[in-house]
Amino acid sequence: MKYFALSATALCLGGLSLFACQQTPLAPVNAQQNARLEQFQANYQASATQIAQNLGETLAPNEAAATREIEQHILATLKKNFSAPPMKRDVHAKHHGCVKAQFQVQNQALPPALRVGVFAQNQSFPAWLRFSNGGSDPNVPDTKGDIRGLAIKLMGVPGKKLLPTQADARTQDFVMMNNREFFIEELKDYVAFSSAVAHGGLSLAGFAITHPRVSYRLYKIFGKQTINPLESEFFSATAYQLGNRPIKFKVRPCQAPRSTMPAKPGPNYLREAMVNTLKQQSACMELMVQPHSGNFEQMPVENATVEWPEQASAYVPVARITMAPQSFDSPAQMQFCENLSFTPWHSLPEHRPLGVTNRVRKSVYELISEFRHSFNQVPRQEPEGFAPF
Ligand code: HEM
Repeated sequence: MKYFALSATALCLGGLSLFACQQTPLAPVNAQQNARLEQFQANYQASATQIAQNLGETLAPNEAAATREIEQHILATLKKNFSAPPMKRDVHAKHHGCVKAQFQVQNQALPPALRVGVFAQNQSFPAWLRFSNGGSDPNVPDTKGDIRGLAIKLMGVPGKKLLPTQADARTQDFVMMNNREFFIEELKDYVAFSSAVAHGGLSLAGFAITHPRVSYRLYKIFGKQTINPLESEFFSATAYQLGNRPIKFKVRPCQAPRSTMPAKPGPNYLREAMVNTLKQQSACMELMVQPHSGNFEQMPVENATVEWPEQASAYVPVARITMAPQSFDSPAQMQFCENLSFTPWHSLPEHRPLGVTNRVRKSVYELISEFRHSFNQVPRQEPEGFAPF
């Protein structure tokens, strides 16, 4: 019983939905914004969901309808939480900064059939790395338990991309969190979760009690200590296509962590750790992929709460991410970071996201990003380089 209570508190106070626990006025969404959102949803409604059965995908029951429900719940949460710009992301609202990096592909360890997409050649891409806390409230201190996120955006990537609205964008995203597994297994539970977040208060406590496995997973993630995001590991948790196989991927630091926890960590100690590191020295991380073994029971594609065992298939390094010494926390660069959008579907077809969690994310990320950009009256556009910073 103790962890039910703790998990309800974690859900409510841990940042995932802090705003949902408060009563705030409705946002003034105007008719033009509503029309654009409805158009977005209609487009997704009309497009048939493609699944790759040979890569272990199967449709979830009522998948399209459940996805529309999740969209409505997230929109309702945002409308409740933000009565005026700036509207933040629904989750991962607090970022520690966007850091410039070079992403050097080193594909020697990959089987030849998997040397596709951005891993086809040993070339270097300029990249933005956005480090974040998973919660909805950007004012929650870093000392509170939370999910930590890392989103990577490669630039200068040629080829048609998967999102029809961004088909000609020259970017490729990789979106991760600091846990090997996602915390929700079934789509119907994500519908219930997003509904509880939208309603807040007792609904959240009710969700935590009626979904003990979800609560326990969140409780464990929130209990992890992060000292310096540049020295942390991040995982895709969900599966992706690479050539003829599903894969998962992760990012890990090149060296053993050196930072120590400050004696009195401030509310933004994670950003401060990154600032202090990059003020004096470069930082290095590497992207690794874990190819699927062919055993779909042991390594399911649809259930993102199952960790793929490394004994069955080891992660292999595919790219070195180098961050030169830099200052990244100027107000202008922090604002630029705020206005970026990341989604697993900013992607070449060779890196197509797989599984129900990813399929839901296709319309959700685009819709929510469109909503916050239009609410904030800032253009939603993909960066083409490091200018003007
Ligand atoms: C059904 C499952 C999920 C839903 C509905 C969801 C929803 C969202 C939404 C609405 C955003 C904000 C988008 C924006 O306004 O630009 C977001 C951001 C994010 N999500 Fe998820 N998410 C899901 C699963 C995941 C998973 C599995 C991961 C990681 C393994 C993840 C990691 C992130 C990260 C790191 C960001 C911040 C990206 C950035 O830096 O802009 N999410 N998510």
